[in-house]
Amino acid sequence: MDYLQINGGKKLSGSVKISGAKNAALPLLASTVLSSKPIVIKNVPNVRDINTLLKLLSNLGSKFTFEKNRVKIDSSCISSTMANYDIVKTMRASILTLGPLLATFGHCEVSLPGGCAIGQRPIDLHLKALEQMGADIEIKQGYVIAKAPKGLKGATIVFDKITVTGSENIIMAAALAKGKTRIVNVAKEPEVIQLCEVLSDAGVNIEGIGSDEIIISGTDREKLPMKNFSVIPDRIEAGTYMCAGAITNSKITLEEIIPDHLEAIMTKLEEMGFSFETNKNCTTLLPAKKIKPSEIITTEYPGFPTDMQAQFMALMTQAEGVSIVEERLFENRFMHVSELQRMGASIMLRGNSATIQGKIKLYGADVMATDLRASSALVLAGLVAEGTTKVHRIYHLDRGYEKLEEKFKGLGADIVRLKE
Ligand code: UD1
Repeated sequence: MDYLQINGGKKLSGSVKISGAKNAALPLLASTVLSSKPIVIKNVPNVRDINTLLKLLSNLGSKFTFEKNRVKIDSSCISSTMANYDIVKTMRASILTLGPLLATFGHCEVSLPGGCAIGQRPIDLHLKALEQMGADIEIKQGYVIAKAPKGLKGATIVFDKITVTGSENIIMAAALAKGKTRIVNVAKEPEVIQLCEVLSDAGVNIEGIGSDEIIISGTDREKLPMKNFSVIPDRIEAGTYMCAGAITNSKITLEEIIPDHLEAIMTKLEEMGFSFETNKNCTTLLPAKKIKPSEIITTEYPGFPTDMQAQFMALMTQAEGVSIVEERLFENRFMHVSELQRMGASIMLRGNSATIQGKIKLYGADVMATDLRASSALVLAGLVAEGTTKVHRIYHLDRGYEKLEEKFKGLGADIVRLKE
């Protein structure tokens, strides 16, 4: 197993190119199940979650090549509809195959993903919505067995909670359903919007893209002539590098981002004393005179993303005063707290709220990555800590960060990947 060794205390400088968004590429790859022809997808990040989904699609019968962030995929030759446990258990987002498989073939068997380090993460809302579209759903031996032999029917779906992959599953299902599907309280994340735009380019009529309510006119099982496209930049990767610049109070430039997607993150960093120079798809973070404490509440887009909570908590250890983090989306998303404490952080947890006392000197330590974003928070802490930090179990990081140590080295960090 690999680990990362970081010698902290160095300022960062220079620029980093941001990769394509993993969370956009996942539903987009799943949506190729709906395609009548092969397509090319550019700017696909070469990270483990993407390779896992490609493996799952290839098990179903898709043919693909993946070179230099370019996926050429033909899912029109899918012959199996069974997403088995061995793959799904390694990546929850495999559930994104449920909607498109059911809509295309009228039946499918997708393993239940189960819980994960950050909480229970049920899929009840995905299933309820598909039932409302006429699917017959049973849970048997850990599998969702879904049937709609005559195809799915348009319906009005009102999501009780905003769910990102739930919205994506239903959008893909609705694209091939019969009639109109109205989705109320649909997620508005940029990744969801790109999915809608790609389907819309393939001829699916979608009204209200980017709003709380969308209406999709389905093709009644006629497959889609999907076109080639490029995946949007990863706003969470960009936010993570912004926090790396911020925690070391350095000047760094992020290339190939969409600044509008980063509004909540950049606004918080500005509140904490940092500033930005933005030029089209490039943004330079400028150091703060004094890093001020802050308060964040995680919520759905366009609010502050839960996927940036851990990185901000690491940064808050370096703010002059008391900061507060309230996690509203996932009940157990504080696994990084005890690891940050091992490095000297002063963090008090009460329910879904954490109080972070800054400014505290952090010291290098052996720490354990527990989930994808928690792991990146430990890398950030390692950049500013005195001495050597070893971040173990970095397979979590490899799920979602492309060329992480290469990018950090490019910014001047002292970081190496080593074998245990
Ligand atoms: C997606 C992202 C993940 C991000 C999360 C929230 C992908 C691949 N993953 O995860 O990185 O952290 O959005 O922005 O895009 N819920 C239910 N029932 C359901 C579905 C969700 O109760 O059927 C709850 C969840 O437990 C959670 C909330 O709704 O409390 C939001 O979860 P959701 O948006 O579904 O997260 P994911 O789509 O799994």
